Amino acid sequence: MRTTRRALAAVVGATALLVTSACGPGEDDTAASTVEVFTWWAGGGEKAGLDALAGLFTESCPGQRFESGVVPGGAGVDAKQVLAARLQHNDAPDTFQVHAGAELLDHIDADQVRDLSAEYRTWGLRDALPAGLVADLTVNDRIYSVPAGVHRANVVWTNDQVLADAGILVAPKTLKEFIGNLERLRRSGVESPLALGRDWTQLMLLESVLISDLGPKRFSGLFTGTTKWDSRAVELAIEDYARIVEFSNTDRDSLDWPEATRLLIDGKAGYQLMGDWVTAEMAANTFSGYDSFTFPGNGMAFQWLADSFVLTTGAANPEGARCWLETVASPRGQQAFSVRKGSIPARTDAPTDGFTDYQLEAVADWRSGTPVPSCAHGSACSQPWQNAANAALGAFSTSGDATALRSALAAAAKQFIRQP
Ligand code: GAL
Repeated sequence: MRTTRRALAAVVGATALLVTSACGPGEDDTAASTVEVFTWWAGGGEKAGLDALAGLFTESCPGQRFESGVVPGGAGVDAKQVLAARLQHNDAPDTFQVHAGAELLDHIDADQVRDLSAEYRTWGLRDALPAGLVADLTVNDRIYSVPAGVHRANVVWTNDQVLADAGILVAPKTLKEFIGNLERLRRSGVESPLALGRDWTQLMLLESVLISDLGPKRFSGLFTGTTKWDSRAVELAIEDYARIVEFSNTDRDSLDWPEATRLLIDGKAGYQLMGDWVTAEMAANTFSGYDSFTFPGNGMAFQWLADSFVLTTGAANPEGARCWLETVASPRGQQAFSVRKGSIPARTDAPTDGFTDYQLEAVADWRSGTPVPSCAHGSACSQPWQNAANAALGAFSTSGDATALRSALAAAAKQFIRQP
């Protein structure tokens, strides 16, 4: 292990930086070259997906040893701070997890990641990935990351028993119906009908409300500059959002997403808006009494995000990192990862054996739906923009000041938007 990594973890005050390798105790790994893979996947389905890739990597890349540099915390909010500090101190891991889309741009500008166009050609990846995703991954005719899988963000998860006890048997189709059901749950004695977590999960909820109120096209325009944040339409959406937050647990700011999901599993809430990685969490808790529906009013919008991996310019073992990326990109790698993680393969030709009914539906929806990007998960927003939006949502959660929220979001857009 590089000593600087330990020192840095202490400097940035990370909750934990766990470095583990695929070699067992007592195994002689001195002959192997190490590939450090940096992620925020420390537990549950997230770790299971990573472990599956690590296993395949060990099989497919002889002489290479997997080393997991992991900083826990949903959506990578803590991991990304540690990563930024490490990159700044020339202590790059060989590869790191990053969302496809806008989140990658700052890393490209800072020359922290390598162009993978040649690898894409050798591995036939341009033809295996959907054209839209390739376009989103391409920057100035180059391509810098390999997607492991695609997730959908705008999904509501239910506790069917809690809903049935309140006489709710049908999924709401509109925001108005959704709010009506939240009121009904509360009247029936469920104190916090909507399970909600900290800042970035609140941003996800706001984004879903914005998709309903603005429609997919105007929503996407919020991140390209064609839709104004300081408009009456956004103001009304924030009012709807504020109304919905009133039905959530008051300790929301101290919960990460699995803890909010726990409220749902334990029957303390009837609904949770969360990305479809939740399915792996439900499975890990052997909870099957749930259902899901697209956020009311979102229509065919498929709010996507893609976890992808890069080859860093500072990689100590670029050859090993390339073999990691090839494993991630392979049809088998994509199936093995998604089946445990709850995502769907980014490749269109990956096998889907072992997939749940939900995942098979998501595969179909990804083909037929209207793709919209996510700010909370980096497909729409750069990292500094995400930080500013998360801070604005966290402040609103305490103050309830809708005007301040709208001004802060408008200011963040003004500061961080990139002109094409
Ligand atoms: C997302 C990530 C997902 C999942 C989620 C919760 O940003 O893309 O794979 O890990 O965070 O941590």
